[in-house]
Amino acid sequence: MNKLVIPLLACIACAVIVSVTAVSVRYEQNLNKENEKKVKILAAAGIVTDKVDQEFSKIKTLYVDFETNKLVSIEDSYDHLKASSNPELSSLVPKSEDIAIIKRRENIAPIYVWLSDDEAIEKIVLPIRGYGLWGTLYGYLSLDSDLNTVKGIEYYEHKETPGLGGEVDNPNWKSDWNGKRIYSNDGSVGLYVTKGPSSTEYEIDGISGATLTTNGVTNMIKYWLGDNGYGPVIKNLGEEIKNI
Ligand SMILES: Cc1cc2nc3c(=O)[nH]c(=O)nc-3n(C[C@H](O)[C@H](O)[C@H](O)COP(=O)(O)O)c2cc1C
Repeated sequence: MNKLVIPLLACIACAVIVSVTAVSVRYEQNLNKENEKKVKILAAAGIVTDKVDQEFSKIKTLYVDFETNKLVSIEDSYDHLKASSNPELSSLVPKSEDIAIIKRRENIAPIYVWLSDDEAIEKIVLPIRGYGLWGTLYGYLSLDSDLNTVKGIEYYEHKETPGLGGEVDNPNWKSDWNGKRIYSNDGSVGLYVTKGPSSTEYEIDGISGATLTTNGVTNMIKYWLGDNGYGPVIKNLGEEIKNI
């Protein structure tokens, strides 16, 4: 029996050390995660800086209610991705509409807006997500002041294969997005990732060997910029901002 006391005490001591360390680094981990999110939002809008908090303080975070397509107020700690798995804070996406394969859509989502001194929209960043080949890609899409011209795209989490679908992180591929158009003349989302090199303002270069990932990218753009995503709010954002 006595032989067990020392190993048991050692186990308890190790467990305590691991728990204390895990708790003490959690705060830093959350801070790093928050900082990484800000870096990606800024990068999507074409801003690369080491003064992340300073640049981020120029952005207004607004919240879109997808049920009413209006801007609403919500506490700053709101986490739309957590909300998307909470049945009280999200809705099931009908299969026929779920082209991005997200299953549930949060009822309220943030948008990040740069406003001029006279409250005119300079640019915005929208969170987007959708299924690729191996899992969900999470990212941000930025639009210029006309809310129809792309400024940039950034993914911060995905499971696609490095060198194939993982090329969504390649700066050369991302640079093809700048200046492309979202909406066709009939108001529908016209932007898509083509198989070969892009040749129109609605086409993004394909990634060879990664058609399934790029189909996922096309589908998430169509979903989030379409009528079931940010589309209706984007088309009325100038007016909505005047009312807040
Ligand atoms: C190990 C492995 C990893 C792959 N990873 C990806 C990927 O991340 N994204 C993707 O679209 N296709 C990936 N593929 C290829 C797909 O299975 C499919 O062949 C491809 O998407 C077709 O694209 P293509 O028409 O451009 O050749 C992978 C294939 C293998 C064998």
